[in-house]
Amino acid sequence: MKKTSAPANSNSEFYKPPKSIIRRANVKEYENLYTYSNEHREDFWAEQANNLKWFKKWKTVLDNSNPPFYKWFTGGKINIVYNAIDRHLKTWRRNKVAFIWEGEPGDVRTFSYHALNREVSKFANILKSMGVQKGEIVTIYMPQIPELAISMLACAKIGAAHSVVYGGFSVEALAERIADAGSRVLLTADGGYRRGKATNLKEIANEAMKRSPTIEVCITVKRTGQDVYMESDRDFWYHDLISLPITNNKCETEVMDAEDMLFILYTSGTTGRPKGVVHTHGGYSVYTATTHRMVFDIKEEDRWWCAADPGWITGHSYIIYAPLINGATVMMYEGAPNHPYPNRWWHMIEKYGISILYTSPTAIRGLMRFGDAWPNRHDLSSLRLLGSVGEPINPEAWRWYHEVIGKRKCPIMDTWWQTETGGFMITPLPITPLKPGSATKPFFGIEVGVVDDAGNEVKTGEEGKLVIKSPWPGMARTIYKDPDRYIEVYWKDYEKMGWYKAGDSARIDEDGYIWIIGRIDDVIKVSGYRLGTAEIESALVSHPDIAEAAAIALPHDLKGNAIHTFVITRAGVSGDKTLEQELKKHVSHELGPIARPESVAFVESLPKTRSGKIMRRVLRARALGEDEGDLTTLEE
Ligand code: WT7
Repeated sequence: MKKTSAPANSNSEFYKPPKSIIRRANVKEYENLYTYSNEHREDFWAEQANNLKWFKKWKTVLDNSNPPFYKWFTGGKINIVYNAIDRHLKTWRRNKVAFIWEGEPGDVRTFSYHALNREVSKFANILKSMGVQKGEIVTIYMPQIPELAISMLACAKIGAAHSVVYGGFSVEALAERIADAGSRVLLTADGGYRRGKATNLKEIANEAMKRSPTIEVCITVKRTGQDVYMESDRDFWYHDLISLPITNNKCETEVMDAEDMLFILYTSGTTGRPKGVVHTHGGYSVYTATTHRMVFDIKEEDRWWCAADPGWITGHSYIIYAPLINGATVMMYEGAPNHPYPNRWWHMIEKYGISILYTSPTAIRGLMRFGDAWPNRHDLSSLRLLGSVGEPINPEAWRWYHEVIGKRKCPIMDTWWQTETGGFMITPLPITPLKPGSATKPFFGIEVGVVDDAGNEVKTGEEGKLVIKSPWPGMARTIYKDPDRYIEVYWKDYEKMGWYKAGDSARIDEDGYIWIIGRIDDVIKVSGYRLGTAEIESALVSHPDIAEAAAIALPHDLKGNAIHTFVITRAGVSGDKTLEQELKKHVSHELGPIARPESVAFVESLPKTRSGKIMRRVLRARALGEDEGDLTTLEE
C-alpha cells in the first residue's frame, strides 16, 4: 500500500562495507558491546559520560524511582555548551573550523571554535542584559543562518532554554508555540533566502506577536535587508546590540544540573496542540555525542554535513550539539538543494571536501529526479559515509544514493529515531552489512520490540508496533507543562511492561533486521516533516466557510506522503475551485507551506465512529480504492 514501505523481499543481498572503513571504524564490533550495553546499562552510559567534561560528577547514572519520569546522571553538574565550545578552546581545536556556512546567494562565512565562542558569548551577554533568566524559555524563529546556531548556544550557555520554531512554519504555528512556552523574548530575522527569493519571516513574526501577549522583546537579525516593521521599545536589531559596549567577548558558562532543561521542541501529535518535548543538559549531551561518534565514525579530519534544518531535532542534535561536542567541522547551507541548479549540493561537497553527508529520503528522491549528470560533473571522492533519516528510504533511492553519490564505497547509515528520542535508536554502524530500506539494528543500550496490542512479540516478518523496552539517556523527560499527556501518549499502552510506544509500525526479518513501515497514529510524514492531521483540520475549520474537515496521507512519489483533505462547508456556502485555492492558501498561511494540502474535496459527510471520531482509515481506503475493512463501528 504505502509507496515508501519496505519491499516484500527482505532477503535482499547484504551490502558489505569496504574493508578500509571497517579497519578504521571507531567501533569495530557490535554483538558483544550490544550485549554488554544492555546487561550493564549504567556502566556503559557512565563510560560514555566520562568522555564529557562535568563540573561535578553524577551520583546516580539512572534514577528509575518514578517511571516513566526517568532521570539520568543525577547530582551531576554540566553545561552542554561547555562541552560543545569552551573545552575545545584549551586545545589546538580552538583554531579548528567549527562552522562553514554558505548562504543561498553564495556568500560564505566560517567560524573557528574561537570565533564561535566570541559570537556566542557576545550574544549571551545581550540576552542577559535583556533580563533573560536561567530556566526561562526563549523562542527562536530564524532561517538557516549562523545566528540561529549562535542564538541556541547563547541561550544554553546562560541556562535559558530555547524553543526553536522551524522557519518554514507560519503565523498560527508560531503564535501557538510562543504561547505554550510563555516566551518573553523572540529571536528572529528579517528573512532568509529560499529558491532565489527572500522569505518574510519578520512579517510573520510581527503577525504572530499580535497574538502573543507574553512577548516583550524581539531581536531581529538583518539577513535580506528588506523593509520590515520594527516597533519601538519592543524590536531591536541584532547588529545594533552586538556592537554595544556591554557586549564584551567573555561570558561565564552557567553551571547546570544534569537534569535542567536544555530546550523544548514542539512536535506534532494526534491532537491539535503540538507537544513541547523536553530535553536536558546531561543525558542529551551524552546520548547525542555517543551516537554521532559511533554511527558516523567521526574523525578529527572529517567535514560533516547534516543537510537538515537546525529548526528540527535532526538539526538540534546533529548540526549543532553532537558535532560540536565531538569537535567536528560542520557544514551548514541556507537554501534549496536545486538552486540555482540541481548540482548545488554536489558542488558544495566538492568545494568544501565534505566527507559525510546526512540527509533525508525526500531530498535524495528530489535530486535523483534531475538525473545522474548533475552529480557526475563533480568530484565527490571526499565522501566516506552517507546517512538517511526522516522516513523509510525506498530501495530505488537507496541504490541511487549508494551508486551515484557514494560510488558504491560509502555505507549508508539509515537512522531511525524521533524528536522524543533525542538521538539515533535503530541504526547501522559503519561496520554493519546493509540491506537497502532497513535501519538494521538497535543502537547500544537500546532494547527494541515489535509487538501486538497485548505486548507479545509478533512472528518474524510480521508487522507490529515498535516499542522501546528500557530507558536511555537521550529520551524526552516529559511534555512541557503536561506530564499526563506524556504518560498518555507514550507509556499508557504498555504500562505494565514499562515500554515506550514509538507510534510506528515495523517488522523484524529472519536476520534480526528491523524494517520501519510508518506511523500508525494520526501523524503524517510529508517530505520527512511531521504534521498532525488534527493541526491541518483545525487550520481548515478556522476558515469561516468550513464546518468540518478531515486530513489523510496518501502516497506521493517525491514527498513520500501528501496531504489530502475532505471538508464540509457551512450552510449556504458551496465548494468550488476558488474556495479550494483559498483553503490551500489559508492552511499555508496559518501553518506553513509544508502543510499545504495537495487536494481539497468538498463532501456532504465524513465517516465517523458512533462516538464521533473521524475514521480516517476509511477515507484512505476509499481514496486508494481498497477494502474499507471493519465498518462495525461506523455511525449510520
Ligand atoms: C518519525 C519521527 C528524528 C529524525 C527526524 C524525524 C520517521 C524517522 C526514520 C527512518 C523510517 C523514520 C518515523 C518516526 N522516521 N527516521 N530512518 N526510517 N522512518 O523526527 O519529526 O520526530 O519524526 O519519523 O515515523 O516516528 P520526527
